[in-house]
Amino acid sequence: MGKGQLNTSELLEMDRKYVWHPFTPMKAWMEKKDPPIIVRGEREFLFDSKGKSYIDAVSSLWCNIHGHCVPELDAAVQRQLGCVAHSTLLGLCNQPSIELAARLIDMAPRGLAKVFYSDDGSTAVEVSLKMAYQYWANQGRTDKRRFIAFGGAYHGDTLGAVSAGGIPAFHDVYQPLRFPVDHVQAPRLPPFSELNAAVGPCADNSSAPEDWEREIADTVMRYPGQHAAIIVEPVIQGAGGMIMHPAGTLTKLRRLANRHGMLLICDEVMTGFGRTGRMFACDHEGVCPDLLCLSKGLTAGYMPLGATLTTQEIFDAFYADPNEGKTFYHGHTFTGHPLACAVGIASLDLFEKTDLLNHAREMADLLWDELLALRGRPHVGDIRQTGLVSAVEIVRCAQSMQRFPWQWRVGGALCTAMREHGVLLRPLGDVLVIMPPPAIRAENIKKIARVVIECIDGELSRIVAQQEAMT
Ligand SMILES: Cc1ncc(COP(=O)(O)O)c(C=O)c1O
Repeated sequence: MGKGQLNTSELLEMDRKYVWHPFTPMKAWMEKKDPPIIVRGEREFLFDSKGKSYIDAVSSLWCNIHGHCVPELDAAVQRQLGCVAHSTLLGLCNQPSIELAARLIDMAPRGLAKVFYSDDGSTAVEVSLKMAYQYWANQGRTDKRRFIAFGGAYHGDTLGAVSAGGIPAFHDVYQPLRFPVDHVQAPRLPPFSELNAAVGPCADNSSAPEDWEREIADTVMRYPGQHAAIIVEPVIQGAGGMIMHPAGTLTKLRRLANRHGMLLICDEVMTGFGRTGRMFACDHEGVCPDLLCLSKGLTAGYMPLGATLTTQEIFDAFYADPNEGKTFYHGHTFTGHPLACAVGIASLDLFEKTDLLNHAREMADLLWDELLALRGRPHVGDIRQTGLVSAVEIVRCAQSMQRFPWQWRVGGALCTAMREHGVLLRPLGDVLVIMPPPAIRAENIKKIARVVIECIDGELSRIVAQQEAMT
């Protein structure tokens, strides 16, 4: 049964009638076989209105950390609800936002000093872009209005984030509305590699600059002194297809930013809170960005909340008398929402109580070992992994890396097939993304891997045959 008095088919009918789904070609959605209506969660499982269970192998779009309906997190929300659900941070303070800010600064890369709250990942990024621009403008450098980003970058869907984005299918249509961002090609981990969280940084000082480093240097030369910041998804570029960077990339970016007088913005909306095997992706290389964007796992995936962490130096550039015009005039109604901050604090407590980072690293090792069985399959072009983020790239021919026509939506069809076997995944094109909550148990890692392998071995040829018959 669905919620309240409505049954599943009534709810589906109403969904089709009223709901416009995100990132969804709605014509294809209407023609789709009935999607599950999720009504309940328990640890790494979600349950639909017909009682079917699924392993949430995509962490409810990359944000769930400790699982669903976690007693400690539920209790934190309920405790806060017993006090007050919401009050504004404009002109007032609230206890959870103060405590969470202190905890974040305590655990974030050393050098970050202040927390600016917002609503979600996009707004955390938007804040960082505006702060970077105004940091320079407040010092009279209004010429610094360009940004550098990687091709394939995804930073959210508000217009600043879209300007920084580098995914043509999502961003090109808005080109006339975007401000100037210079995109350079992204570095890539070699195929079939794992960036092991247990291994420390290895930024080779002496090696010759790679293509992407040269491109950044060239870009800076083309627009001398005009770049406010370089923005990057450190270690893993998520929505662009889980593009993973070789170890040392972040250290090089930090040096480039310093050398060329730009700020470094790290967008850890996806990578933050244990996803890569460290608390923050920046921790892999001990790099401190000037601005750090957080969301998703910040509340363990319970509630929307964004945070942009900054250095004291950035804060100081805004610290002036009101009549000097240096104030950061930005804020949202729900900035520093007490319920979200309360669950954020409880989540950090759980990280410690359950030794979650070590557990996640063990689960990552297990997942990698299991997925390597796919190596050598004719349609598996790459398997790459960092922490508990795995990407299996499905191609028409692994040898030539020829892709399937995108219109065939092979990745999507495979994920729909896996759903029948009780595993929820969401692809990025034909890249299967496996990103379970860090708290997942070993038996469920094994089940995910088994279902992925069985569907690639079994369902893929059926999907391809069906498409070939239609063309
Ligand atoms: C790296 C990164 N930045 C920003 C965002 C945008 O976050 P939100 O969807 O909460 O606005 C995302 C979302 O997936 C992301 O992966």
